[in-house]
Amino acid sequence: MYKYHCLNPISNVGLEYFPGKYENSESLEDSDVVLVRSANMHEMQLPKNVVAVARAGAGVNNIPLEDYAKEGVVVFNTPGANANGVKEMVIAGMLLASRDIVGGIEWLEKQEATDDIAKLAEKKKKQFAGCEISGKKLGIIGLGAIGVKVANAAVHLGMDVYGYDPFISVDAAWNLSRSIHHINDLNVIYKECDYITIHVPLLDSTKKMIGADEIAQMKDGVVLLNFARDLLVDEEALAEALKAGKVKKYVTDFANPLVASTPNTLVTPHLGASTEESEDNCAVMAVKELMDFVENGNIKHSVNYPDCSAGTCVDVGRVTINHKNIPNMISQFTKALGDAGVNISNMTNKSKGDFAYTMIDVSTPISSEVTKALKNIQGVYRVRVIK
Ligand SMILES: NC(=O)c1ccc[n+]([C@@H]2O[C@H](COP(=O)([O-])OP(=O)(O)OC[C@H]3O[C@@H](n4cnc5c(N)ncnc54)[C@H](O)[C@@H]3O)[C@@H](O)[C@H]2O)c1
Repeated sequence: MYKYHCLNPISNVGLEYFPGKYENSESLEDSDVVLVRSANMHEMQLPKNVVAVARAGAGVNNIPLEDYAKEGVVVFNTPGANANGVKEMVIAGMLLASRDIVGGIEWLEKQEATDDIAKLAEKKKKQFAGCEISGKKLGIIGLGAIGVKVANAAVHLGMDVYGYDPFISVDAAWNLSRSIHHINDLNVIYKECDYITIHVPLLDSTKKMIGADEIAQMKDGVVLLNFARDLLVDEEALAEALKAGKVKKYVTDFANPLVASTPNTLVTPHLGASTEESEDNCAVMAVKELMDFVENGNIKHSVNYPDCSAGTCVDVGRVTINHKNIPNMISQFTKALGDAGVNISNMTNKSKGDFAYTMIDVSTPISSEVTKALKNIQGVYRVRVIK
């Protein structure tokens, strides 16, 4: 019986994917795997029995990835599972920034006592009028799961779409509509586009990537949308540009005192992935990742270890090793197994930054002595005998 613990409420549609041999544990202490959404894990000491954490969502800045990697804990996320939910919010954000739909609704709500409300509405409507998004230029920074969906939807809405992503994946490139201009110089987006939306992860290299200099290059009356992370934008500089009318609207999913008090901002309370469908998709993906890892040792969509897969073990046994990415590790593993007379039938090794993962299928059962010998090798963080 395997035990999972949920640090936040996780959709039942996902949890129901766990078969009967998995049990929901109320306590972190006796769980094998953990599911999390936004709970802050930075100060959390994980018990030794926890082998994996799955974040039902994309952002992982609530999890100490490197510390957990050093404890041999694989952290997964669910890239793309909530992309459609965010895409729809970006489209809504562009429409709300283009026409004063919110202002119009709020004005009408105050007119309920007015007798001739229809006539008054006709008279007042020009004050809430705006422009259409069709025919306008949209710049997308980051063409990952969300950026690609926004790009393709915007093309269907008649927009002229410019995309920038120096690290675009092959999958994303395949999925991108051919009508999108692939831009290699971000300045082109700043100079040309009427709407700019950012969909990159928050990293040291992307923090405040849109600052005063970038804003200065933008067209007057540009609309900026941020459904990625607030720290990607220098919001102090942006507040000045909003007050001066340089930026027409800032649509952001991240509330803070500054944006809440700055004119011409449309702030939503982190609603991007807050749809039933997104939560279900994320939970299903997280559960499947954990099951494949627990039962087969396979890693897919990890953020602190390399993806590594050897399918289902068809031999006598499988051992997996989380270790440092340094020379001479594999030779020590094969020696430990060879010295014990264990024959290796299949072996896969992958690395990501400072961390590596090795999966070894064997034709002879693995004894506790062999496991101990593997664990004692300098640079090994965790050894699991899967079968
Ligand atoms: N508002 C919400 O509720 C919500 C929900 C999901 C995700 N997000 C945020 O959206 C971000 C993007 O999500 P995603 O699922 O598309 O992620 P993703 O990993 O699929 O895509 C991110 C893309 O950004 C690109 N990138 C990285 N650095 C870049 C740079 N300097 N310039 C241009 N491109 C760069 C990467 O190559 C990648 O293609 C997440 O990191 C998360 O912070 C927000």
